This record gives sequence, structure tokens and C-alpha cells, in this order.
Amino acid sequence: MTNIFELNQINLTIDDKPLLQDINLTVPTGAYLTLTGPSGSGKSTLLRVLATLMTPTSGTIAFNGKPQADYLKTDYRKLVSYCFQQPSLFGDTVRDNLAFPFDIRKIDFDSAQAITALQSVDLPETMLDAKITSLSGGEKQRVALIRNLLFPPQVLLLDEVTTGLDPDTKAIVHQLIESHHHQGITVIAVTHDETEVAQASTLLRLVAGRLEETANAK
Ligand SMILES: Nc1ncnc2c1ncn2[C@@H]1O[C@H](COP(=O)(O)OP(=O)(O)O)[C@@H](O)[C@H]1O
Ligand SMILES: [Mg+2]
Repeated sequence: MTNIFELNQINLTIDDKPLLQDINLTVPTGAYLTLTGPSGSGKSTLLRVLATLMTPTSGTIAFNGKPQADYLKTDYRKLVSYCFQQPSLFGDTVRDNLAFPFDIRKIDFDSAQAITALQSVDLPETMLDAKITSLSGGEKQRVALIRNLLFPPQVLLLDEVTTGLDPDTKAIVHQLIESHHHQGITVIAVTHDETEVAQASTLLRLVAGRLEETANAK
């Protein structure tokens, strides 16, 4: 089996404060890792490092066997997609957000594809032209997710994306993530959700910037 990520002795220190310490982690291609741990333990920091949004102070990261630093960030971020803890939409409308993945690939916007994606998370076609300020938190989170999945990445990094969602919306989001995972996407999901932790096939725990031994829930 190949490994999509290999992290070797990752440390990240900011202003003398160690945010990540001696992280060694191997992620097999196609895995579904669940990452948990106390607030402030470095979970978001670790995802940001994997997403190239933060750079470790020391250590090495290989992505598909090649140093992360050898990739162009614009190419890398099409392959490794990070969903923020707070859904971050930009521009004026939902269309502005769903057009973005087409724009960066210099492909004409395909509204039919965008509508299919909206419908896949139980959002109506009319939402395409809704102002983002009119959306609920759960609607924003779903739009942010499908924006990341219109052109499926190899890795999906999820930062507490189901926190605060009502049970129905949570189920829709789980289904979307599962269907992409079944198609081979590697998922690394940060969560505090007790059910998600209990159902994790591979559970990792960060405490004060250090990774604890892997505990397999099942
Ligand atoms: N850019 C940054 N500069 C300085 N400190 C940061 C930065 N990002 C995060 N931190 C600190 O790193 C620690 C871990 O944060 P974070 O990764 O967000 O934790 P978690 O996601 O587990 O709650 C916290 O103490 C936070 O304040
Ligand atoms: Mg966090």
C-alpha cells in the first residue's frame, strides 16, 4: 500500500511556543483518519501544515512520496483541500463561490454541475444566486464543502465541519464525505463529535501538540 502522507519529526514553534512537537505520522492512501484532542492542542495547526497554510519549523512532509516543498502551492492545493472550522465564503453570492474552482482551473463555469452539487447536499437550485449573507450556518458549511469537492481532491482535510450542525444537516454532510471517501479520497477529519469519535476506524489524538499512540476504535 502506498502512503499519501509521511510526516517525519514535525515541529512547529511560534514565538517560543511549541504548537506541534515531534509529529511522526504515516497516512495510507485512501485512509479515513479521525483526529481529536482538547481545544488548543494543535489540531487545526496540523491540518494547516498538511494544507501548506503553515510551514513547520523543522521536520519533513512527503506527499505521494515527494517533498511537500517541491510542489507548486497552487497545484498542491488542488490535490489537498482544506475545509475551515468556520465556513469561509467570499464574494456576494453562492455562484461566486462555486465558480471559483472553475476559475482557478481556467474552465468555463458549468451551472448544471454546480446545481447537481447543491442538490447532492439537499440545497435547492435557486440557492445558486442567493446572497451568502442570507445563508444559515449549515447552508454555508455545505456550500463550502461542495466548493471543495466540485473537482475532487486526493485529500480532504476537514476541520470540525459538522460542529453546530443540526442532526439532519450533519447526516447529509456525512453522506457527502462518505461517498467521496468510497471513491478513494483520503480523509483526515478533526472532530469533537462523540459519535464521529466512536465510529472512527482510525483515531488519533493530539495533546499539547503531541500525537498520542493510535487507538483503533474498531
Ligand atoms: N498563527 C498562530 N500564531 C500563534 N499561535 C497560534 C497560531 N495558530 C494557532 N496558535 C496557537 O496554537 C495552539 C493550537 O491551536 P489550534 O491548532 O487552533 O488548536 P485546536 O485546533 O486543537 O483547538 C493554540 O494555543 C493557539 O492559540
Ligand atoms: Mg481547531
